[in-house]
Amino acid sequence: MPVEEYGSSANGLPPCPYGRCDGDGWIPNEDGTVSKCDCLEPRLARARASGINSVLPKRYRGVSFDRPPVTEINPGAVQVVREWIDRLDENLEQGNGLWLMGDTGTGKTTLAMLVSKEALKRNHTVAIYSMPSLLTRIRATYGAEAGEESYDQFFERLCEVDLLHIDDMGAEKQTEWVLEQLYALVNERYERRKSIVVTTNITDQDELNQQIGPRTVSRLTEMCSESMVPLFGDDARQKPQLRNG
Ligand SMILES: Nc1ncnc2c1ncn2[C@@H]1O[C@H](COP(=O)(O)OP(=O)(O)OP(=O)(O)O)[C@@H](O)[C@H]1O
Ligand SMILES: [Mg+2]
Ligand SMILES: [Zn+2]
Repeated sequence: MPVEEYGSSANGLPPCPYGRCDGDGWIPNEDGTVSKCDCLEPRLARARASGINSVLPKRYRGVSFDRPPVTEINPGAVQVVREWIDRLDENLEQGNGLWLMGDTGTGKTTLAMLVSKEALKRNHTVAIYSMPSLLTRIRATYGAEAGEESYDQFFERLCEVDLLHIDDMGAEKQTEWVLEQLYALVNERYERRKSIVVTTNITDQDELNQQIGPRTVSRLTEMCSESMVPLFGDDARQKPQLRNG
């Protein structure tokens, strides 16, 4: 099926044309694994053409509220995310964000992926990046040749998607350039009232200011003021017996 038949929005990911998957190109199996839907390849082609990544990483494709690991994650945190998703359209409309912070291996990325998955399912545009990979992607536009996407075009897409999902904010090597990129992006989305979902290991305010920059932290805090989700505890990656997904 030609990509063009998928609708008119520039980089939207519409529902499955075959009615088989959730809209993300993957069909969950009963054993928790996933199979490719026929709509996946056209979706990937379309995502590549749009220049932003809208594809869930393989590990998180099958995430769902009703099975592990989400059923093992701190119930209070899961509840906040569930309520955020219940009001997803309204949250995106108003530019409300979600900020998941805390210890490693407690489910932050898993919960954030639930949000992106649902947003894609409801046909919103989503850009999904870890902070280090986003910076790499931005750098790559510097060498863009004629016909390739420029920095300005890529930046504008990042500002315009309905949901910007940045994983592992603060995990990147901090430089002036990094602080500037992050500020420009967050400030632009702040001004346009566009939603952002962020995960970070940093919980200390001073460290956040140091690593992300106080003006960026200030804006993110306001955008996510109703949905700051702390996740503390042991690293589930080191407790394989707790996982049965
Ligand atoms: N509370 C939990 N109980 C059991 N398994 C979990 C729990 N939280 C996460 N997992 C599993 O542990 C792994 C790590 O989860 P995830 O990537 O969401 O952690 P994270 O909080 O983002 O960690 P990091 O800070 O290192 O990025 C995944 O395989 C996930 O399925
Ligand atoms: Mg993570
Ligand atoms: Zn499909």
